[in-house]
Amino acid sequence: MYVCICHRVSEKEVRGCIEAGARSEEEVEDACEAGGGCGTCLDRITDMLEAHYGPPVMSSEASPI
Ligand code: FES
Repeated sequence: MYVCICHRVSEKEVRGCIEAGARSEEEVEDACEAGGGCGTCLDRITDMLEAHYGPPVMSSEASPI
């Protein structure tokens, strides 16, 4: 099944990029081009990143200016 239709990148290929060390949408795009077209697949790529690495950590503290 394709994750990215624009670049014909399969779920298996995206998972392989993540397992090889891609940690962001940009790094997945650099590795296999997924997400570098219309952007429709970015939510799916984010879901796959979070499934692998866990959800992003949100800080409740205000950052110093
Ligand atoms: S479907 Fe992935 S960029 Fe268009």
